[in-house]
Amino acid sequence: MDIINIAIDGPAGAGKSTIAKKIAKELDIIYVDTGAMYRAFGLYCIRNNISSNQNDIINNILNDIDISICYIDGEQQVILNDENVNQFIRDEEVGKMASEISVNKNVRLKLVELQRNLATKKSIVMDGRDIGTYVLPNATTKIYLNASVETRAKRRHKELLEKGISRNLESIEDEIGKRDYRDMNREFAPLKKADDAIEVDTSNLSIDEVVNKILKMINNNY
Ligand code: C5P
Repeated sequence: MDIINIAIDGPAGAGKSTIAKKIAKELDIIYVDTGAMYRAFGLYCIRNNISSNQNDIINNILNDIDISICYIDGEQQVILNDENVNQFIRDEEVGKMASEISVNKNVRLKLVELQRNLATKKSIVMDGRDIGTYVLPNATTKIYLNASVETRAKRRHKELLEKGISRNLESIEDEIGKRDYRDMNREFAPLKKADDAIEVDTSNLSIDEVVNKILKMINNNY
């Protein structure tokens, strides 16, 4: 079988990981979560008291950091210098640090190399911010998932409540707005819809509706 690469990009909370996982399962191919790699990098910085504006230090430690992925029961695990850090990378603090350090071009180039290597070996669904525009410009299918800031903040609010964390909706909306701004306005490989990507607004669609819509698009590409 030919290798297929499906690129799913979009802002935080648009539903990328949920949708990408389901699509990978339907097609029996691998799901690659690139945000988890930036999170692992962010975790390293937090653990080593490096702040996101210390670019000289970050550029100097690039070679000390080894990030790779493996799968346990079909779930992607991120390995940071021989340690499986999956259980630590979902904290809010790590997400914020990931968003801040992902502005650094050298950090991006390091992680893009890993992402491109993965895509040449196997058929994958890869989600992130720059997959269709920069990491895999020749991807078989490119999807740009979007939703209004309000919808994305409400989803995040509900997700946190389910974990027993109560946070003010407005502060979540504010944080998402800042993250969008950083992602869309960084100099190198910013978040934007690739010219040949199809945009799907998930605000008023169920998960299954989005998945079915995308599966149809993928099938139409063959
Ligand atoms: O997708 P997730 O929220 O886990 O990603 C964490 C952060 O990593 C994002 O806020 C984004 O700034 C950054 N990121 C990126 N490029 C990617 C994936 C994630 O800049 N391909």
